[in-house]
Amino acid sequence: MKSTPHINPQAPIAETILLPGDPLRAKFIAETYLEDVQQFNSVRNMLGFTGTYQGTPVSVMGSGMGIPSISLYAWELIHVFGCKKLIRVGTCGGMQEGVNLYDVVIGQAACSNSSFTDQYGLPGTYAPIASYRLIEAVREQAKAKGVTTHVGNILSSDVFYHADPTFNERWQKMGVLAVEMESAGLYATAAHAGVEALGIFTVSDSLVTGAETTAEERQTAFTQMMELALPLAAL
Ligand code: HPA
Repeated sequence: MKSTPHINPQAPIAETILLPGDPLRAKFIAETYLEDVQQFNSVRNMLGFTGTYQGTPVSVMGSGMGIPSISLYAWELIHVFGCKKLIRVGTCGGMQEGVNLYDVVIGQAACSNSSFTDQYGLPGTYAPIASYRLIEAVREQAKAKGVTTHVGNILSSDVFYHADPTFNERWQKMGVLAVEMESAGLYATAAHAGVEALGIFTVSDSLVTGAETTAEERQTAFTQMMELALPLAAL
């Protein structure tokens, strides 16, 4: 089997892959939701697993934090291992009133302060967007299950601790729903390769109210999000 500097597969990798930031989250997802699980990666402890969900092969692997990390894993998964549907499952900070703790945010597009897309040398500014097909499918799942979702623009920030206290406010003014740190890199990498990507998030903290979730509550919200994400494997 082929290998890369960051992935040395000990088992097959499915065309659909879920990408939580935390590799232990990947392990939890594999053990909780998938059948016939095999671990395919352990390089740098970025654990990756392949199994089946309702009979369809699905992989799940940690992405690490930030655009550089998720983008290099996505590139290798797409270009070397043939992944065609890459779904980030993560947490985000809510940036608007009405985007409440535990709601699900679907990242229709991802703004960023990263220079990642400069590499494509485009004569303008690229707008990284998710696969509309995947957005629609998740929305259908959410409607059927009665889960509140918010679909819209998110911000993939390179900076977690800001020197500039007005940074978030200015994005909030533009109607950006939530902040996280990866999706713009994932979307651009997928678009450049002609494959599909989507980011789905549970709101773990609110930049509007300052509220934060507890570990136990996060688990419940996480389960809800996984129930929306996993059926995408069968599309
Ligand atoms: N900022 C950036 N990334 C995040 C946040 C946040 O507030 N919450 C969850 N991921």
